[in-house]
Amino acid sequence: MEQLNFIRQLPKVELHLHIEGSLEPEMMFELAKRNQIPLPFQSPEEVRAAYQFSNLQSFLDIYYQGAQVLIHEQDFYDLTWAYLLRCQQDNVIHTEIFFDPQTHTDRGIAFSTVVNGITKALSDAESQLGITSQLIMCFLRHLDEQAAFETLEQALPYKDKIIAVGLDSSEQGHPPEKFQRVFEKARQEGFLTVAHAGEEGSSENIRNAMSLLHVARVDHGVRCVDDPLLVEKLAELQMPLTVCPLSNLKLKVFDTMDQHNICELLEKGLCVTINSDDPAYFGGYMNDNFIAVAQSHSLGSASLAQFSLNAVEASFVDEESKAKMRNRILAHLEHSLS
Ligand code: ADE
Ligand code: ZN
Repeated sequence: MEQLNFIRQLPKVELHLHIEGSLEPEMMFELAKRNQIPLPFQSPEEVRAAYQFSNLQSFLDIYYQGAQVLIHEQDFYDLTWAYLLRCQQDNVIHTEIFFDPQTHTDRGIAFSTVVNGITKALSDAESQLGITSQLIMCFLRHLDEQAAFETLEQALPYKDKIIAVGLDSSEQGHPPEKFQRVFEKARQEGFLTVAHAGEEGSSENIRNAMSLLHVARVDHGVRCVDDPLLVEKLAELQMPLTVCPLSNLKLKVFDTMDQHNICELLEKGLCVTINSDDPAYFGGYMNDNFIAVAQSHSLGSASLAQFSLNAVEASFVDEESKAKMRNRILAHLEHSLS
């Protein structure tokens, strides 16, 4: 089977997707009009042209601005539904998505508006598209600990809808230890934990996310290579890394895709996965990320399938669901070899 078709038809699991980062410029314009929010751009093309980032912060500034068009429950539904239709196109069979409540509650949008809009779309996707999902609530790490505690409090009535808490936004200057106590509380309340670490911050952040926040997965984690003992530990523990190749390129974590270390980490036996992060801003959903990695590193089918199998192992679902997904991936691999 030709490689592009192999990738397109490969069943995939996405574990690192910010729903606000799936807001395409066309929808940004539509919602801005619907909600009468002024935009500093004349057209979706002009918005796309502004997506030239020099680092994480330069992206975050424009990303938080874009999210301001989201006001009503229907807006969060439409945003999530549009992403799920992209999942269907890319053969993503299961997705675990992040949302940033503080980006919205700080503008006066109710927590319930955000969660209800997102979860209604997730539920419709399961019944209508056969795509399963989980929801992860992220704390914005540039805000203080108290704000994170208040956000956690707001999430408690939605425990059945939110599987885990995470940590995103500016990594530099906001290390995992700042949120140790709130993560402790979240774990006591029954949430799993994940955290962005080692994206543009140090490998020390990865170590501390594991030892202090007790994360079940590390989001990004690519800077682990600065600490060979940590790399060994990640392999030994099979600690999943949710790597986002096109994001890393756009935010200049790596200069070119051939310099990206994802394949080196795969060869070392780490549980690395491929994800899209903020696809509307970084120019690609799941298939595009798989294709970019495959083409720059001349990967074969077995390695590509391994990324998907790793994501199944790393997902927050029961063993029976994992077995079903694993079998679908293995069947695709076998079929492609016959
Ligand atoms: N929020 C959305 N995308 C992010 C990323 N790649 N890193 C940190 N925070 C984010
Ligand atoms: Zn991210």
